[in-house]
Amino acid sequence: METDQNIKKAIDGLNAGTLIGLPTETVYGLAGDASNPEAVKKIFALKNRPADHPLIVHIANAHQLKDWAAELPDYVTPLIEKFWPGPLTLVCQRQSHVLDVVTGRQNTVAIRCPDHPVAQRVLQSFNGGVCAPSANPFGQLSPTTAEHVRDYFSHELDIVLDGGPCRVGIESTILDVSGTQPQILRPGMLTASDLNPHLPQPCLLPNQQNNTPRVSGQLDQHYSPRTPLHLIAREQLPDYLTKQPADQLVVLSTESLDVGNAASVILPKVPSDYAQQLYNQLHQLDAKHFTAIVVITPPETEGWAAIHDRLKRASTVSIHTNS
Ligand code: TXA
Ligand code: MG
Repeated sequence: METDQNIKKAIDGLNAGTLIGLPTETVYGLAGDASNPEAVKKIFALKNRPADHPLIVHIANAHQLKDWAAELPDYVTPLIEKFWPGPLTLVCQRQSHVLDVVTGRQNTVAIRCPDHPVAQRVLQSFNGGVCAPSANPFGQLSPTTAEHVRDYFSHELDIVLDGGPCRVGIESTILDVSGTQPQILRPGMLTASDLNPHLPQPCLLPNQQNNTPRVSGQLDQHYSPRTPLHLIAREQLPDYLTKQPADQLVVLSTESLDVGNAASVILPKVPSDYAQQLYNQLHQLDAKHFTAIVVITPPETEGWAAIHDRLKRASTVSIHTNS
């Protein structure tokens, strides 16, 4: 997957305060030493990311959690035993040494322990935590291959580790465990139904309380391809196609549909497989200069919730049957 030599170069780079492209199981990260303020500032500058959008600290194992988090509630232990390493980020009370530039001056810090073998090799040898937002300019599609990262940052990054296509394909589930009741802040492929059996009380869902901390993914538009993305209910498609020059459109669906002169791409019917391919497919279609990418709205069930969330944020137009 990656040579020992490249892994060593990456760790040397982190130690020297430079940024690297790092594969994780969710999406590729733009990684820098979480204890080095200059390195963290470079992440914000390179992504053009507003300073009040805090970063996730990535660690090698659960033992390192207490290096970053303070006052962890008891219910966190079974969660970590079950889901770490893996695509679950925990928002915790912070230790006082955690840099303000990492947390956006909040009293909490987001922490994740990725299970990707390349990320694990880097984190196990690097003596500390690594900040890694998705390796894309702010507001654009997250990368799920090393090539996507190189396409975004060919001039700025010397080291992009190649871990192959990401297994999960969309960003981690973010769970706020800084209060008495856990709350999902960002849906991911680990859902409330996955988490709840390991919690003393069911977690709150996004927006179930008004005091949600800032999560950049909660901006209305985010994760967008450059080509306009139109999210359309299946029943609306025939009508929609009569109003557009269909030969410049591509329709993304999970079943074969009559798309007239438009191009068509079929994605898997299983949500985890759909998520795994979604961003890669959007990256490819974005390069083809369609006037719009038309995505047929997937089912409204829990397994699709995170995919819905990302599609809604990526879309410029959303047409549903009942709204
Ligand atoms: O899967 C992932 O989580 C990927 C990979 C690379 O690990 N990373 C990722 O990072 O998606 P990023 O920066 O694109 O998204 C991190 C999210 C942001 O929406 C940010 O606002 C939120 O985490 N976040 C970070 N610290 C937080 C905090 N203390 N409280 C609430 N939200 C926080
Ligand atoms: Mg991101």
